[in-house]
Amino acid sequence: MVRLPRDKNVLVLTGAGISAESGIKTFRDSGGLWEDHRVEDVATPKAFERNPRLVWDFYRQRYLQSIEAQPNSAHYSLVELEQYLGDNFHMITQNIDGLHTRAGSKNVLEMHGRLRYTLCAKCRVQYPFTDVCSEEHIPVCPVCGTNLRPDIVWFGEVPYFLVEIEKLLKRCELFLIVGTSGVVYPAAGFVMTAKYFGAKTIAINLEQPDNRSLIDDFHMGRSGDVLPKLVQEWTNTNALSSNV
Ligand code: APR
Repeated sequence: MVRLPRDKNVLVLTGAGISAESGIKTFRDSGGLWEDHRVEDVATPKAFERNPRLVWDFYRQRYLQSIEAQPNSAHYSLVELEQYLGDNFHMITQNIDGLHTRAGSKNVLEMHGRLRYTLCAKCRVQYPFTDVCSEEHIPVCPVCGTNLRPDIVWFGEVPYFLVEIEKLLKRCELFLIVGTSGVVYPAAGFVMTAKYFGAKTIAINLEQPDNRSLIDDFHMGRSGDVLPKLVQEWTNTNALSSNV
């Protein structure tokens, strides 16, 4: 039994795999298409310029799918871990589905944006998606009249929070990666920074991720099975040893 000291600085990175058991399809497992669409038709700034209607239809569907989905045991385990570690817990997610915050996680950076918000690219103001979701037309900014876009970081754009993330990577002592293929940068490279600055690296994934060589402890399996067990061990206050 290995207990995690409460003063251990833990940083978690999650990807699409953690939401797979909530019924949301991962990207790499969908045969190169994302919910039957080519990424370049729906998830790039050019696609939005070319056909905003198609892009909005696509993200309305993704939004509706995300609010119907429920967080699973892996999301809830991370809430438990955060409650145990307090301010020593931070999480970065590549997911836009909002399931971590719905489960109750607090310290989460949604680096690829969030389905539940729209963005005016001109005013840089975000508006809740619910306000525009049922409308057929393309929503516009109430201040400047520009087309609103989904608040999603598309391919070719810079992810959110990179400065904060760099600081977290440099100071974490344990870097835990859950449900990500290790293919899409910059997130795929975070493990290298964390390891370089001395963190122990642990990953849970259904298959070997591309950055497997940088991972100290790899647990192959479904995050909904593996993570609750790990978190239970780590937070077991009756356990004697504490050397994760
Ligand atoms: N438990 C653990 N891992 C799982 C599970 C599960 N139940 N189901 C699938 N996986 C694994 C898959 O084997 C795969 O390696 O999760 C990984 C998901 O990989 P991707 O689909 O590539 O998702 P992700 O790594 O989050 O993609 C990163 O790429 O498309 C862009 O912006 C998008 O945020 C996304 C980014």
